[in-house]
Amino acid sequence: MTKRCALVTGGNRGIGLAIAQGLVGQEMDVVIGARDADAGTTAAKQIGARSIILDVSDPDSIERACDQLGPVDVLVNNAGVLGSGAVLDDPAEFSMSIAVMVAGPYLLMHHLVPGMRDRGYGRVVNLSSGWGAFSDGLEGPASYGVTKAALNALTVAAARTLPDHVKVNAMCPGWVRTRMGGAGATRSPKEGADTAIWLASLGADGPTGGFFRDRKPIDW
Ligand SMILES: NC(=O)c1ccc[n+]([C@@H]2O[C@H](COP(=O)([O-])OP(=O)(O)OC[C@H]3O[C@@H](n4cnc5c(N)ncnc54)[C@H](OP(=O)(O)O)[C@@H]3O)[C@@H](O)[C@H]2O)c1
Repeated sequence: MTKRCALVTGGNRGIGLAIAQGLVGQEMDVVIGARDADAGTTAAKQIGARSIILDVSDPDSIERACDQLGPVDVLVNNAGVLGSGAVLDDPAEFSMSIAVMVAGPYLLMHHLVPGMRDRGYGRVVNLSSGWGAFSDGLEGPASYGVTKAALNALTVAAARTLPDHVKVNAMCPGWVRTRMGGAGATRSPKEGADTAIWLASLGADGPTGGFFRDRKPIDW
């Protein structure tokens, strides 16, 4: 059987790299999307994956990468940025956060999901955060919570329009020891990646349009 092709954005380090490694372990043909070509090649070599240049804040880069990739069965929208200060402080930070964590995932889904729908199989995993949950007070610095809440909304709205063979879910990895999470975080990248790997390889009876942490539904 042909291997399923999985694209992991921001897969050159942190949780994305751990997700990519987990999907290689599931016998998928994994492509790391990285904005820096060398970082992507080095990371891909480490885990037996391929890499592609992909800056998710740049619509042209997204279109080029999608053209080069061909059919993608599994899309993991992992790339993320974390600003500082208060939400209304910095319009440039707001725009960049929206570009990386909302518009980029939207465009990737726009380009790749129709093929999944037509081929009869697709899994989309959106790396969100408890900080993007209204139920948790939309915490986090700068625009982070707002963008993750928007990514959650995109997850629900997209899942609603798709047949059950294309599953779109959001997840929170917990507090993870990466450049973003810092050295004091409680989870390893491998632990943070677990729920995303599970969602990326859900069986036909798996959920869609949900929000998960530790493989369990959590409140929006
Ligand atoms: N760490 C946590 O505790 C935590 C908690 C909740 C949710 N999350 C979410 O989990 C995801 C991964 O976080 P992480 O902790 O692994 O973060 P990280 O260590 O800071 O890694 C972020 C990744 O995103 C990439 N990236 C940033 N901007 C990009 C762009 N414009 N185009 C392509 N790639 C871009 C980075 O690439 P470069 O190497 O080129 O910078 C890097 O590969 C994020 O969505 C984050 O919001 C993390």
